[in-house]
Parts: sequence; C-alpha cells; structure tokens
Amino acid sequence: MFPAPKIPFLIIVLIVLAACKNSSTQEAQINKKGLNYYTEAHRPQYHFSPETAWMNDPNGLVYHQGVYHLFYQYYPSDIVWGPMHWGHATSTDMIHWEHKPIALFPDKHGYIFSGSAVVDYKNTSGFGTLKNPALVAIFTYHLMEGEKAGRTDYQTQGIAYSLDNGDSWSVYQGNPVIGNPGMRDFRDPKVFWNEQTEAWTMLLVAGDHLQIWASDNLKDWQQQSEFGKGQGAHGGVWECPDLFPLSLAGADAQKWVLFISINPGAPNGGSGTQYFIGDFDGKTFTSDQTEALWVDGGTDNYAGVTYNDTPDNSRLFIGWMSNWNYAQLTPTQAWRSAMTLPRTLHLETVGGSVRLVSKPLAVINPANNSSVRYEIAAGSAPLLVTSDALNQSQIRFNWNGASVNLDFSNEKGQVLRLKLDATFKTMTLDRSNSGFVDFEERFKNEQQMDWNPLEGENNLNIYMDASSIEVFVNGGQSVLTAQFFNLKPFTHLEISQPLEELLVLEHFEIRPLESIWR
Ligand code: FRU
Repeated sequence: MFPAPKIPFLIIVLIVLAACKNSSTQEAQINKKGLNYYTEAHRPQYHFSPETAWMNDPNGLVYHQGVYHLFYQYYPSDIVWGPMHWGHATSTDMIHWEHKPIALFPDKHGYIFSGSAVVDYKNTSGFGTLKNPALVAIFTYHLMEGEKAGRTDYQTQGIAYSLDNGDSWSVYQGNPVIGNPGMRDFRDPKVFWNEQTEAWTMLLVAGDHLQIWASDNLKDWQQQSEFGKGQGAHGGVWECPDLFPLSLAGADAQKWVLFISINPGAPNGGSGTQYFIGDFDGKTFTSDQTEALWVDGGTDNYAGVTYNDTPDNSRLFIGWMSNWNYAQLTPTQAWRSAMTLPRTLHLETVGGSVRLVSKPLAVINPANNSSVRYEIAAGSAPLLVTSDALNQSQIRFNWNGASVNLDFSNEKGQVLRLKLDATFKTMTLDRSNSGFVDFEERFKNEQQMDWNPLEGENNLNIYMDASSIEVFVNGGQSVLTAQFFNLKPFTHLEISQPLEELLVLEHFEIRPLESIWR
C-alpha cells in the first residue's frame, strides 16, 4: 500500500482560491462599495438614483467627448430638499452610471437651482480654446436670505465652466449674468446653440410665462420675446423649460416642441410637464394649440428636459421620477428619488392629431422574439403568471386592443392595478393598496389618462424597478410613470378582461432586468 501523498497545506489553499477566483473577484467589487450597496428597500436597480441623500430635477444634460453627463438638483446632507448643489454622474451608454464628485456648490449668490449645460465649441465665452472647448453650465442662483427677507429679486442666472469634461468647475467671476427684474419666480435657464441665428438661445421661465433670451458669448444676454401668458395650463408656476425641433414621422415636416413643467396643476395632481407644438423662427415661439397636452400621464415624471449635443441628434429625455405633492415624504431611507429611464422623443399623428411620443431608449429593449400566446375568452378565469423577477423586469405583449386589467401583487396581498379601458379610451393606475401609501393623502388617488386603442394590433411595454412602473402603450403614444412602495416584491401578475370580450395576447414575455449597480 502506498501512503497517501501529502499535499502541502499552501497548495490546497491555492487550489481552493483558484476555484473561487471568479466569485471572490465579484465579491471584492461589491465590497469596495459595501455589501449593502444599492440594496435598501425600494432601491431602483436599473434606474439612476443618488448614492445617498436628496435629489430632484435633472440638470445640465449634455453629451461631450463620448460621455453623457447627468447633473441633478442635490442636497447632500439630508433626504429632504435643502441648499441646492449640482450632483453629477456620467455614462457612456445611458444605462450604467458612474457617480462623480459634486459639481457646483452654493456660493454668495445663493443655492444652485436648475439649469442646463452646453459645449462652447466656438469658444464664444473665451473660457476654453477651440481645441479644448469649455463645458459651460447655466443655472439659477436662489438667494435664500433674500427670499427670507421678503424681497422679490432673489433669483438670478449664473454660469460656471469646466475644462476637464465636468470633473472640476470654475464659477464665472462676473456672475450673475442676468439680474432679477423683480420677479419671484425667474429661473431654470435652458440654453442651446441656435443654428438660425448663429448665437446662444436661453429659455427662462418667469412665473406664468416663458422668456426667450439671446447671447453671443454666454455672458451678455438680451431678451428677445415671450410666450405663454394665458396659453396652456396655469394651475401652478411654470418651471424647467425646453425647446427643440422634431420631425413628424411619415411627413416631410418639422415642428418645434416646447416643454413647460408646472407645479401644481398636473392632470393627476401636483407636478407635471406640459408640451406645446408650434414654430420657432429663431427668436419667437408661437403655437395655436388650445388644449393642454402632457408629456406623461402619470404622477411621477417631473422637470424632465432633453440632452444638448447628442451624437446622432436624437432627442433624449430624462425626468425626475417624483411629485412635489409627496416627494419629501416617500418611505425611503438614506436616499430619495430616482430618474425616469432615458427616453427618445418623436412626433407622430395619433387619432388625427400631431402628438409627442416617448420610447424607452433602445439599448435596453430586447428583440421581441417570444412566441407565447394567450387567449382569455369572455367570462373565463384570469391568466395568472408568477415570477420572482416580476418586480425588476420588462413586461411586454401585443394584443388585440380589448379592455385589459393587469394586477401586480405580492404575498402580502398588496396590489398595483393597471386598467386599459377600450370603451372609454382611458388608462388608470390604482396604487391605493400597493403597500406604503399613507405618507401623504394624495398618493392614494387613482390616476387616469387617455389612451387611443388602435385598429388591429396594440402593444404594451412596462418597466418595473423596485418602486416604479413605467408604462408605454402603442410605441409610447401614451406613457404613464408612477412610484409605488410595496412591502414585498410583486411576484404575481393577473391579467383579466373586464368586459365580455375576447382578449388575445401575443409575444408575451417577462424579461428579468439586471442591476446596474452591483
Ligand atoms: C423644479 C424646481 C425648479 C427649481 C428647482 C429647485 O422641481 O422647483 O424650478 O430650479 O426645482 O430645486
């Protein structure tokens, strides 16, 4: 008998270590950020949310040198609104985000409110060079001391620039670049390069209307025109404007689209973003639109704006996924709120009228190759699909346009109910029994918007991520975004037809979506 070979202890350790190499590398990555990184209750897994503390509006959306910048209203010391900074994150694909140091801090002129960023390619400001153009941020200063003292001139416009693609910032010594004319609400500058005038255009909201300003160098500004007194919705103050051209699908026509967020005054209460379709001659925006139209029919998509300088000229939008009615009360700890998925914007003719359509950015859209088909006959039992991945997934199907109810539920009996009614052409979300709902009375209200059923095939595309649902109907003709706070993940989806109709679902799939944070 041969004695068993003695393998030195060190070799055994090395063999075991080699076998574990992959998983220990992963663990090391997670441990770098802490084991509980992005695992808190309600924490979105594939949406942008700040590492810690309070966030509101997206700011300074700009693409430069292969990088999408996302700045945002940020108060690093609490999970409620406070002295505003600009937080900063970057991405190369609009899905994965890297947190960057805070970009802008309050200074003697005030807190740093919302605004935009441009690349000064022609070096009109002199901050950079033609070879290394400056990234210039244009924002509102809010002087809290002035507001507290009862003055009306506490909001002014300032600029700052970066020569290292957003890593460090210098505040312009000549700030403010636009003083206050005696208006309480005078803010949220959106600046873009105007091809028609070969100069900079700034959109600024002033209480109940929009002002359009122009500049050759980002420092000296002149007012050109105004728009909106008595037009559109005026249930609250106008905020966060944006203006951009879009071509009309299937036609050789271009229109300009103006975004104005208002709070309160949205159709489902609190904050919402309306849009106007019209014309812009380089100086003045005009629209003969009489009804108020909304970018999103849900309660939780506010202050959204679009990117400057996207590589393929697409109109890329991000909104803040909350509502001032309850934004500071939602039951999260350590951080508060998230951004919507990035969406591309288009114009389409819907039911005979030109309408804005938003689609989730293509990179996270899978090929629609599922061949699962369900038929739910009149009077038959609902279809029940169970999936542990449901609460962090994409759910999509095509269907025959019949009325349909979707109930997302969990083991605690909490239900989020989405109803598409083909007779009344409405889409309704009921989150009154979806989990934590008592932190603010209005959170429980049912939300409703219009939906236009198509002849023949319709499609539904839903993104669920921990505490949010984004619903895109018929390629984004109707969009509804809302938060919910369930105590346990939803694992059951019950699909039923509420009327005596045949409901036919095709290409049904629930696609689990991975965390971008771990
Ligand atoms: C919109 C808004 C902006 C303002 C910012 C302050 O949500 O009220 O008008 O600049 O938030 O944080």
